[in-house]
Amino acid sequence: MKILPAKKIEGSLKVPGDKSISHRAVILGSIARGITEIHNISPCEDCSCTISAIKKMGIEFSSSEKGTIIIKGKGLEGLSEPKEILDLGNSGTSMRLLSGVLSAQPFFSVLTGDQYLLKRPMDRVIIPLSQMGAKILGRSNNRFAPLAIKGEKLNPINYIMPVPSAQVKSAILLAGIFTEGVTAVTETFPTRNHTEIMLSSFGGKISSSEGTVTVQGRSKLEGAKIFIPSDISSAAFFLVAASILKDSEITVKDVGVNPTRTGVVDILKKMGVKIDISNISSKNGEIIGDISASTSSLKGISIGGEIVPRTIDEFPIIFIAAAMAEGVTYVTGIKELRVKESDRIAAMAKGLREMGIKVKEGEGEITIEGKGNFKGARIGSSGDHRIAMAFSIAALAADSETYIDDIKCIDTSFPGFLEALDKVAVRN
Ligand code: S3P
Repeated sequence: MKILPAKKIEGSLKVPGDKSISHRAVILGSIARGITEIHNISPCEDCSCTISAIKKMGIEFSSSEKGTIIIKGKGLEGLSEPKEILDLGNSGTSMRLLSGVLSAQPFFSVLTGDQYLLKRPMDRVIIPLSQMGAKILGRSNNRFAPLAIKGEKLNPINYIMPVPSAQVKSAILLAGIFTEGVTAVTETFPTRNHTEIMLSSFGGKISSSEGTVTVQGRSKLEGAKIFIPSDISSAAFFLVAASILKDSEITVKDVGVNPTRTGVVDILKKMGVKIDISNISSKNGEIIGDISASTSSLKGISIGGEIVPRTIDEFPIIFIAAAMAEGVTYVTGIKELRVKESDRIAAMAKGLREMGIKVKEGEGEITIEGKGNFKGARIGSSGDHRIAMAFSIAALAADSETYIDDIKCIDTSFPGFLEALDKVAVRN
């Protein structure tokens, strides 16, 4: 895809429904009893993978209008054995969260994914779920998918997570729903709490205190009406675009601003970006607001610690902001970025260098020397949607056209991204 530089971006837009929250609404709707109606569900490929896997387990889905789906949930005992292998495409969230549910089913299932998902660590869910009594086998000595899961009657556990991960926490909590007893998960740094909030909306008994989340097994889940906020991880690309281009101002509407996800807003503020959240309201326990950002003089900063999990998917676009800032940005504690849809530290460092930026990489850190401009270049996406979108934004601020290879992956989270960008970009 050839992307031309832009003079500015301006206006307001909506981005698709939150991917993380959509997965949870679909999964919980399918194990609750009765009708669940989900509005503004993400149209992304990852969420379609979750839906198609659940359909293969005998749950009916229908749609009354665009963006709305209706699930006929059959309760905790309602799933049936899938005859086929469940292909979860690129979606780590589908694989890890469904592993939690499938570990507790009285049947056998096999989970696989695309070439990228097959490289991502699955031992992080296999270990705790096996401790609960699940029988899971994975490739390479139980480290990678495909996974073969023989569901069992599970026991509750108290688990202290070695890496901050909302997917691992959620897999354990979902498995915990099927146990007779109380399951507890403790995390060192807070990760996104959408599973906890969504479970409450379905009537689940869940509480959090001082870094530990506890779920009461076997509580009755009832179908619910859910509204999904727009995805802050998708909004972030436009917010950074407005802050690095001249004469720009953008508002992204009805965005989920749950504090476990707003690290990107805090980081951009610290870098000197004029960014504000307004029109704040709440739906199904999730906070929603409009986020506006405008042209700013950015400065390099140090980033690390508890803010990292709250920003985990936004680092690619933050690195683009860092390259446009004055001074050096130093980010630590980001080893997890090496096991995302691609090795995001390596993919970003390579692309930034192609665009003329000086970057130093460590195992779990990166140093970016802000330069204030980009050289047009040819960039590989590494098959990773967020890398492709981050460099599409850099391309707007480049001195000449930029080519991004393999952009189909954008549909993983944001079908229509390039069209949305074209609508708000004013070209030279
Ligand atoms: C997600 C959690 C994060 C995030 C991913 C979605 C979720 O992964 O990177 O895109 O929906 O729970 P980890 O839990 O592995 O950090």
